[in-house]
Amino acid sequence: MQRIPFLSRILLFCLAFSTCLAKQPPWVMRISCGARLNVHTAPTNTLWFKDFAYTGGIPANATLPSYISPPLKTLRYFPLSSGPNNCYNINNVPSGHYAVRVFFGLDGHPNFDNEPLFDISVEGTQIYSLKSGWTNQDDQVFTEALVFLNDGTASLCFHSTGHGDPAILSIEILQVDDRAYYFGPAWGHGIILRTAARLSCGNGKPKFDVDYSGDHWGGDRFWSPIKTFGQGSDLATSTESSIKMASNAPNFYPEALYQTALVSTDTQPDLAYTMDVDPNRNYSIWLHFAEIDSSVTTAGKRVFDILINGDVAFEEVDVVKMSGDRYTALVLNTTVAVNGRALTISLHPKEGSHAIINAIEVFEIVAAESKTLLEEVRALQSLKSALGLPLRFGWNGDPCVPQQHPWNGADCLYDKTSSKWFIDGLGLDNQGLRGFLPNDISRLLHLQSINLSDNSIHGAIPPSIGSIAGLVVLDLSYNLFNGSIPESLGQLTSLRRLNLNGNSLSGRVPAALGGRLLHGTSFNFTDNAGLCGIPGLPTCGPHLSAGAKIGVAFGASVGFLLMVICSMCWWKRRQNILRAQKIAARGAPYAKARTHLSHDIQLTRHYNHGNARTAAENGPILLS
Ligand SMILES: *[C@@H]1O[C@H](CO)[C@@H](O)[C@H](O)[C@H]1NC(C)=O
Ligand SMILES: *[C@@H]1O[C@H](CO)[C@@H](O)[C@H](O)[C@H]1NC(C)=O
Ligand SMILES: *[C@@H]1O[C@H](CO)[C@@H](O)[C@H](O)[C@H]1NC(C)=O
Ligand SMILES: *[C@@H]1O[C@H](CO)[C@@H](O)[C@H](O)[C@H]1NC(C)=O
Ligand SMILES: *[C@@H]1O[C@H](CO)[C@@H](O)[C@H](O)[C@H]1NC(C)=O
Ligand SMILES: *[C@@H]1O[C@H](CO)[C@@H](O)[C@H](O)[C@H]1NC(C)=O
Repeated sequence: MQRIPFLSRILLFCLAFSTCLAKQPPWVMRISCGARLNVHTAPTNTLWFKDFAYTGGIPANATLPSYISPPLKTLRYFPLSSGPNNCYNINNVPSGHYAVRVFFGLDGHPNFDNEPLFDISVEGTQIYSLKSGWTNQDDQVFTEALVFLNDGTASLCFHSTGHGDPAILSIEILQVDDRAYYFGPAWGHGIILRTAARLSCGNGKPKFDVDYSGDHWGGDRFWSPIKTFGQGSDLATSTESSIKMASNAPNFYPEALYQTALVSTDTQPDLAYTMDVDPNRNYSIWLHFAEIDSSVTTAGKRVFDILINGDVAFEEVDVVKMSGDRYTALVLNTTVAVNGRALTISLHPKEGSHAIINAIEVFEIVAAESKTLLEEVRALQSLKSALGLPLRFGWNGDPCVPQQHPWNGADCLYDKTSSKWFIDGLGLDNQGLRGFLPNDISRLLHLQSINLSDNSIHGAIPPSIGSIAGLVVLDLSYNLFNGSIPESLGQLTSLRRLNLNGNSLSGRVPAALGGRLLHGTSFNFTDNAGLCGIPGLPTCGPHLSAGAKIGVAFGASVGFLLMVICSMCWWKRRQNILRAQKIAARGAPYAKARTHLSHDIQLTRHYNHGNARTAAENGPILLS
């Protein structure tokens, strides 16, 4: 054993105990939007991937809205002509817990709205709406959320709200600990935590975790500096001493975070921080403390209550006692419901006259949306390409969520038992569609209504429509559908309205549909190439199979041949008779010839009147 080198022994240890695996670096994906080449940024040589594989939107040169934006030179923007919803779908993302961050961009071009406002969703859940004035606030040039990604992809969508074109500078997907920011039983896959504020108190400079040399598992958080909560109410303090218990799982806070703090003064013993929030939401609040004031030497010297919007959240907080020592990190978290537009965190001293705080984090708790049934999403995508849906529809992301931005033309219904969305209506009437209707439409099993009226859709009506059992309304009027109406439509027992008028349909209407007339279903079959077979339409001709048609043609040819042979026989016989008559009546030849002539003219007149017969049929008859 002694002869095995030290490093190998470490390796053996690692193989035996998977604890070493936990130290592997987190999965990281950074994208520089609109970049043609991968980019490395100073000072940490961070790698940003180009987004060349992304086909939507338009790349442009970027103007950075803030000095905290990553120093990238390009952005990608999404004009409304490319549709209201545009997404990045990032593949091969290992299942896990992620911090997702999006920096917004500004295009220096004079035609560009200088402050676009739009909505952002992650995995179908809307997490943020840009607020007017964001270009003037450094901590509003990005949005960030903690989300579980479990299906191998990360879907980020940008939704137009009619205030300029969404423009994106960068996207970061940074893996964090599976239990990062665990706050209690309500935490988990059903929620997304959107960062509303993250403040480093008593600090003068904006810092990311990486600037603090923080652990990579922390998600490279951005800490806004705050030097005071209000004029003269507090004092910034700092220490060089190291802090115990700082960079621990699951949140791996950088140690430096606890080396600065705000402390209240004699004139203003309460510390109070107020921020604007969206009303009627739940917030998760994380407060950071370390006793770094050398005058506070033991437990009991500094005790304070913490109130949130006036309600006591933590009573008699004693940092030294609760953390176990001076220069030791203490993290407290709580969840509050906020009805108004303000969130106030105040620290009220009980023992000693000063409160202290090192950092504050506030998250909005967003309920994660359920997605649409995958099978139905695929069917809609198939329809999108087969029908040739115009670009302005922008059917990207999930059809039904975020609920604020569903796809235009698809009606959604939520099923509580399966907690999934599905499509119950398709309304694409009068949209200039020029494609064909694919069989895949029947994969939209829950459709009750289809209106594709007034387009230029060509080809056959797909027989599979007959398997959409719940279909009540089917309006395919004023298109270029041809062929016959599929028999399968007869299976649609719920059908109450069927408009097929204004197409090029032909052939027999399925008998089962005709029977439905009695049950109050309303039909319109007018203006087609030739439909037949139900009351109100012409009766259909005899229905002949291909074999029968060949038989009929063969029979007609044989008949024709027989008639030609007969007439030749007759003509020959007639010539013989005439010759005999000529010989018998040499005395009056003129009179006989005249009589024959007038008889021939009458027959010809008669033939001209009854022109229903063909010349071929009449020829032999005339001769008889
Ligand atoms: C972006 O900037 C580069 C020079 O930095 C220039 O060559 C290019 O034309 C610009 N692109 C646009 C779309 O303005
Ligand atoms: C947050 O607080 C809850 C109790 O309210 C506690 O169970 C949980 O462990 C805390 N989370 C962390 C990461 O400290
Ligand atoms: C806030 O949380 C409470 C209790 O957990 C819940 O009933 C309520 O629906 C939540 N409100 C919002 C807006 O999410
Ligand atoms: C289908 O849409 C057209 C408008 O394009 C409308 O006139 C028609 O009534 C709709 N059909 C049904 C069955 O609602
Ligand atoms: C229907 O129209 C298409 C062209 O759009 C043609 O190829 C096809 O043969 C037609 N089908 C019938 C049954 O007329
Ligand atoms: C049926 O469609 C034709 C046009 O194709 C229209 O003129 C007629 O009013 C429609 N009939 C009914 C009952 O809607």
